[in-house]
Amino acid sequence: MAEILDGRSFAEEIKGHVREDVLKLKERGIQVGLGLLLVGDHPASRQYYRATLKACQKVGVRALEFRLPEDSSQNEILNMVQAINADERVNGLLVLFPLPRSINPRRIVNEIVPEKDVDGLGAISVGRLAAEESTFQIFKELSYAELRTSRVTAMVTSFLPCTPFGVMKLLERYNIDVKGKNAVVLGKSLAVGKPLSLMLLAKEATVTICHKETKDLAGVVQQADIICSATGVAGLIRGDMVKEGAVVVDIGINVLPDGRIVGDVEFDSVAPKASYITPVPGGVGPVTISILLENTLRSAQSHEFLKNPYSLKIDLSR
Ligand SMILES: NC(=O)c1ccc[n+]([C@@H]2O[C@H](COP(=O)([O-])OP(=O)(O)OC[C@H]3O[C@@H](n4cnc5c(N)ncnc54)[C@H](OP(=O)(O)O)[C@@H]3O)[C@@H](O)[C@H]2O)c1
Repeated sequence: MAEILDGRSFAEEIKGHVREDVLKLKERGIQVGLGLLLVGDHPASRQYYRATLKACQKVGVRALEFRLPEDSSQNEILNMVQAINADERVNGLLVLFPLPRSINPRRIVNEIVPEKDVDGLGAISVGRLAAEESTFQIFKELSYAELRTSRVTAMVTSFLPCTPFGVMKLLERYNIDVKGKNAVVLGKSLAVGKPLSLMLLAKEATVTICHKETKDLAGVVQQADIICSATGVAGLIRGDMVKEGAVVVDIGINVLPDGRIVGDVEFDSVAPKASYITPVPGGVGPVTISILLENTLRSAQSHEFLKNPYSLKIDLSR
């Protein structure tokens, strides 16, 4: 039976470290701030907004709310993003999705300056990930945990998207080495599947990306040492598709007609064959927001470090 990759306790661990470091900055008179831009009142945006707000309170990050009405024009939203870019109180900006239908979301996300793009979805952040120019890739021989405590994190060039980066950190937390492994990623979205594939590749996995047009999905998945599914299709991965001992990361979040929340993976048939598996809920989901908070903290540290490289002492002992 597979060992559970427990995202809830890992998320608490991350938040604990973030809280400590936020406090250290506070003692120096620096308040870490996360901007939340909510356009309109979509239930999904509101739900994520509330969860982020709660997490901010837990770690002492100041949440700054920026609201615009549903019928805002693209220019009005762009003006707001530019104002937030210039706002010294804001270290990171999260734009809540979905935006109203008339708005081009890429145009909005690309307007965020990379230093504040803590969701890592702007074109520059994505490009730096693809070019292996993000801080966490440049120093690829170091683990993410080692990087967290080293001075190089103070020189963060851009941020990695929260959900896929959370997956990579969760794997590392359980000492699952991806180097040389066959990794199959299901889904190629810009927020999850594509960046996750690039991160696995940067850590020297052999990566296959599947999508709706993939022929013989079961055959491809059967070859995988590591399966990461982000499709939003409940029950897509069944036990007969999984190699004995595979690591299974279920990123999907699906609400069934009876209200239950499940992932893409049929847990009961897959868990007996896998070596590790994430539950849904309680797997990747909780890690995502804690990474967002960590990225926001890094942005604040980086800002301070660049202002005065000798003022910021980073604890190397942990
Ligand atoms: N845990 C978290 O924190 C977190 C964060 C973000 C998203 N999610 C969840 O992750 C899932 C994916 O999110 P997303 O934003 O990446 O969604 P998305 O933009 O809708 O992308 C879904 C991807 O899955 C592929 N796909 C759909 N049906 C498939 C099938 N039958 N076989 C193979 N591939 C298939 C699509 O292929 P095509 O490209 O060919 O259409 C697409 O690339 C959702 O359930 C979402 O709720 C979770």
